[in-house]
Amino acid sequence: MFVIVAFVAGSSYLGGGFFMRCGTHTKVKQGNQANAHGYGNVMGGTQGEEVLFEKRWQRYAAIAAYFCGVCERNMNRDIMATMEATQPTAYTGLKAQKQQKKRKAVAIWLVAGVIMLMIQILLGGATRLTGSGLSITEWKPIHGAVPPLNQAQWQEEFENYKVKASGQYQYENSDFTLSDFKGIYWWEWSHREWARLVGVVFLIGFIYFLARGYLSKDMVAPLVILFILGALQGAIGWIMVQSGLNPDDVRVSHIKLALHFLAALVLLAYTYIFALKLLAAEGQKQSFPALNRLSWILLVLLSVQLCFGAFMAGLRAGPAAPTWPTVNGEWIPGNLSQYGNQQYSGIDRHISNPIGVQYIHRTLAYLIFGFAIARFIVNQKVAGRPEFRLLRRAGRATFLLTCLQVLLGIFTVLSAKNIIPQHFGQYEWLALAHQAVAMCLLLAIVTDLYLLNAKRGVVAV
Ligand code: HEM
Repeated sequence: MFVIVAFVAGSSYLGGGFFMRCGTHTKVKQGNQANAHGYGNVMGGTQGEEVLFEKRWQRYAAIAAYFCGVCERNMNRDIMATMEATQPTAYTGLKAQKQQKKRKAVAIWLVAGVIMLMIQILLGGATRLTGSGLSITEWKPIHGAVPPLNQAQWQEEFENYKVKASGQYQYENSDFTLSDFKGIYWWEWSHREWARLVGVVFLIGFIYFLARGYLSKDMVAPLVILFILGALQGAIGWIMVQSGLNPDDVRVSHIKLALHFLAALVLLAYTYIFALKLLAAEGQKQSFPALNRLSWILLVLLSVQLCFGAFMAGLRAGPAAPTWPTVNGEWIPGNLSQYGNQQYSGIDRHISNPIGVQYIHRTLAYLIFGFAIARFIVNQKVAGRPEFRLLRRAGRATFLLTCLQVLLGIFTVLSAKNIIPQHFGQYEWLALAHQAVAMCLLLAIVTDLYLLNAKRGVVAV
């Protein structure tokens, strides 16, 4: 049904209709002849079939007319044309107002998308923290929307898990009952189901706004890229899950987890920048080279830090050194070639050894904190000027979020001593909050950079 409505709306939008002209259009074009439809039976058939065909299409046409808004646009166009000729000043004002209204509507849709993506990433975090990521062993983007509906189907899923995720099952969950399995299954299913919902919200919004003429030509290509990034993200997610479906591993590869996490952040930032472009006018942007440089340094450091954060999460590196300020009593960890029974060499000592990863994650955090202080001081220099209110606020948000993030990281590490297996406790809640603030920090720095990217002249600090 949706596809039909979308098609009819689209076809009406793209030049008067492939199958027909809707009743409402005809009414506008032909005065009182509300029922005189100009559409024909393109499929042929008897007269009876034609009547049936016509009635059915009348119904679809009414729905399409509502969604596509062609009639409304036709009327508006006439009114606007008259206005342009008779009251040019009022016409310009009204046109700008209408344009603004459309941009706002699209921006609200994109902001809703940003919030949904953040929830999606947090659901991913909860899935990982509950050890649920390998519970669904197949990738069915459409059919997977329906969870097991009866005992036999649940049992089948559980057996699939035992065989395909045999490493995790044998080493960590061999005592699992069906009820325990259902517990982890629901987390992974919710993560995937929410992703489907995000896709649907984006798709419906896209078709609706396209049909109503809310999307200017330059908006279409970025939105198509957004869909491609979304599809890619699903594929990366599955590649990540596959890396843990074997007899040897108990969890997915931390490198692939980082890839999945970073790709999600790219999608989030991309959608957010798109919304920002519609919400923040060019007049609100400024050019301060010193602030711009510091913001870029912060963005680069943060990107590396987000990657190491995901390594921390994927390797469960928090519990490996649940102390602060030292790393298990050492200021600089001595032997990174060994952790437990595992040997590490070369770069692996820093990206695969949990202690090495935690040490780098901490060091980067202090570095980011230092640059955030420097940026804050420079930001305060411009704080006095009322016209830079938005930039000032974004700058302060960046600083406060950095402080909060460092504190949350420290408390997360310290709470790792209290982890209780199969229990969502203090460590897990703090880790989730740490993930949420990381996303907010990224968006705050993106906002800083966006607002600092003015096309106008440079203001020296
Ligand atoms: C600017 C500073 C920081 C940023 C941006 C940051 C970012 C992140 C991110 C993105 C994650 C992974 C979240 C996930 O995929 O679930 C993470 C994990 C983690 N971070 Fe940080 N972090 C920062 C500072 C710190 C500090 C100072 C510490 C400790 C001293 C710390 C300890 C941890 C721990 C223990 C985890 C693993 C949590 C888990 O098991 O899920 N972080 N961090």
